[in-house]
Amino acid sequence: MSVRKLLALSVALCCTVLLRAQDDLAKTPPMGWNSWNHFAERIDDKTVRETADALASTGLKDAGYVYLNIDDTWEGQRDASGVIHANEKFPDMKALADYVHSKGLKLGIYSSPGSKTCAGFEGSLGHEVQDAQTYAQWGIDYLKYDWCQQPPLNVEEMKIAYTKMHDALKKTGRPIVLSLCQYGWNKVWAWGPQVGGNLWRTTGDISDRYSMMAEIGFNQNGLEKFAGPGHWNDPDMLEVGNGGMNEDEYRTHFSLWAMLAAPLIAGNDLNKMTPYTVEILTNREVIAVDQDPAGRQGFRIAQEGPFEVWMKPMADGSKVVGLFNRQRTVEQIAVSFSQIGISGQASVHDLWLKKDLGDFKDRYSAYVPAHGVVLVRIKPK
Ligand code: GLA
Repeated sequence: MSVRKLLALSVALCCTVLLRAQDDLAKTPPMGWNSWNHFAERIDDKTVRETADALASTGLKDAGYVYLNIDDTWEGQRDASGVIHANEKFPDMKALADYVHSKGLKLGIYSSPGSKTCAGFEGSLGHEVQDAQTYAQWGIDYLKYDWCQQPPLNVEEMKIAYTKMHDALKKTGRPIVLSLCQYGWNKVWAWGPQVGGNLWRTTGDISDRYSMMAEIGFNQNGLEKFAGPGHWNDPDMLEVGNGGMNEDEYRTHFSLWAMLAAPLIAGNDLNKMTPYTVEILTNREVIAVDQDPAGRQGFRIAQEGPFEVWMKPMADGSKVVGLFNRQRTVEQIAVSFSQIGISGQASVHDLWLKKDLGDFKDRYSAYVPAHGVVLVRIKPK
C-alpha cells in the first residue's frame, strides 16, 4: 500500500473513531450527581472532592452514579487569548478532574450558548471550539449546555448553536456527553438527537415539592417515542433527600423517573443522607428499570382522577407497572393484565419491598399510600 493510501486510511479510521466518540455515549440514561439542586452557587473544589468521596463510600458509585457534574457558577474570566479560566472557587480544574477520575468517577461541567449563563457568569458564545478544547484538556466528560440568557431565537438558530458545541466537542476526540438545557422549548425532543444531544431537558426547573415534581413527572406522558439509547428526555435532576418531600413522595419521584428512563442525577448533599435517602437512591431493582438496555420510556396506560397506572416495557418481556396515588389519602389501585398485553397468569414482584408476591390471574391490585406508589415487575407465565 502506498504511503498516501495508508495516510488516507488512517485519517478515515481516526475520523470514524471521533464520530463514534460522541455518538456512542449514554447508551442508558446517564447517572450521577449535580451540584445545583442543593448547593447552587455554593459549589466549590472542596465540595466536589467531598462529593466524590461520598459517591464512592455510600455505595452510590457502585449503584451506577458515575458523573459528578459541576453546575453554574464555576466560571471565571477569559484571558487575553480568550481561554476560559475557573474562578477562585476552583483553583485547579485539571487537578480536580484527576481526583474525580482517581475515584473511578467522571467529571461534568456547565456552560451556555449565550454570552452569559443563567447565573450571570461567562458563557461560550463565540468561544465554542476554544471552550470544548479547554474542557477536554481538563478531562471533562459531560457538558450541560444551558440556553438561559441567549435571547429566544427561532428554532433553526437554536439548532445551529447546539450543533456548534456538539461539533466542537466531537473535534476534541474526547467522549463528552452533551446535555441540552432549554426547558423543552420548540419541541426539543423532536430535534435533540440531530443536533448531537444525548439528553435534553423537557421542562422548566424542578423544585423540592411534591406538587412541582408530580406536575413535571406525570406530564412526560406522550414523549416516550422520542427517547432511546443515546438520546433521552430529561425531566430535570432529582430532589430525593433534599428534605421537601416525605418518603412516599420521594419514592414516587424516583419510581417515576425510573419509569421514564430519565437521567438519574442526584441533587442532594451526599454527606448528609438519612438511611432512607440512601435506600431510595441505591435501590438496584428500581435503577435496573431506568437502566434497562431496551431504553423504552414508560407511559400512562390508565387514569382515573388522581390515580394513574404507568407501564414500562422491559427488554426481557416483563412489564414494570407503577400504581400512583396522587391523592392525600390511601387508595386501592388495580392494573388488569390485558392493559399491559398479558393474558392469564403472571408473576408479580414488588420493587420497593424487593419481594416476590406470587402468581396472579388477570389483574393485580394494591393499597397505595397518599402521594405514593406501588412499583411491580410483572412477568407472563
Ligand atoms: C437554569 C437550569 C438549572 C441550573 C441553573 C443554573 O435555571 O435550568 O438547572 O443549571 O440554570 O444557573
